[in-house]
Amino acid sequence: MARFSRRRRRAAIIRTFNNAVCWKAWAEMGGVDTNVWVRAGRWSVLLIASRAAHPRGSRSFSRTAIMIPAPRDIFTEPSDVDPDTLANLGPLRPLAGRWRARKGVDMAPKPEGPERRVFIETIDFQAIDPQANGPQLFYGLRYHIHITTEEEDITFHDQVGYWLWEPATGLVLQTIAIPRGQVAIASGIAKPDAKEIVVTAKRGETEYGICSTTFLDQAFRTDSYQITLSFHDNGTWSYVTDTELMVEGHDAPFPHQDRNTLHRVGEAHPNPWAAIVARRKTA
Ligand code: HEM
Repeated sequence: MARFSRRRRRAAIIRTFNNAVCWKAWAEMGGVDTNVWVRAGRWSVLLIASRAAHPRGSRSFSRTAIMIPAPRDIFTEPSDVDPDTLANLGPLRPLAGRWRARKGVDMAPKPEGPERRVFIETIDFQAIDPQANGPQLFYGLRYHIHITTEEEDITFHDQVGYWLWEPATGLVLQTIAIPRGQVAIASGIAKPDAKEIVVTAKRGETEYGICSTTFLDQAFRTDSYQITLSFHDNGTWSYVTDTELMVEGHDAPFPHQDRNTLHRVGEAHPNPWAAIVARRKTA
């Protein structure tokens, strides 16, 4: 297939955009603000033409274009899906397997002020089969974090979810479920060989947001979440999570922070589909 330079692609998008806005402007002379989707090569462009808002008068239109690299055929799934998740995890590949560390640090809110605790952490990342939302294809890992402390037998923190990677766009997602009644989905963008990944979520967002129980939302409102993963040359990796809590009765947000550096204690296993394919080959 012919490939176009970035400049030619951009020029084509702008041409399509201008034509569509002119056409739309004409069609909507008597009307209200309009949104229209147009295709420009591999991109879908959402054109927002707004007449009333423009300072130059009723015949002028303000224009905004949001480019979304998603085909408008929302049903057709990719036909070239590779069964081998471990070979398609992009920047998430180093995480697959089992990890442990004894020196994690937590800063959590307590009535008498911030409390610093050292914790012991085990994380399992297991490859899952590729997942398709129509044309959107993810490869990913299911994870379980289990945290204890030297001082107490009871679990200090428990968390499950998925890390997902969309090779077509570089989108990275982390889903979070915490058994104090909280879920979140955080997003970011990363290159396949990234040494650092950052994903974020914000309370109130409908796409990459945070949802809590009524009690938590009143007493410990979680306004934002960010995790930064850093991969080191010696095979270990570290994370820092910054969770901003508005604690009832306080004016300033509380920075609930956790950090750790993990060491490998178990190898990655193939995802179920890849294991079936491998068994068939040896049968
Ligand atoms: C390594 C990860 C984490 C550890 C070790 C940890 C640990 C803790 C601890 C010890 C507390 C105080 C609990 C208490 O006083 O009973 C706490 C509170 C809290 N954490 Fe975390 N946390 C972690 C990650 C997170 C994340 C990722 C979120 C949300 C996205 C979160 C949300 C909260 C909230 C809302 C509270 C206040 C509720 C409460 O104190 O009962 N935590 N956390």
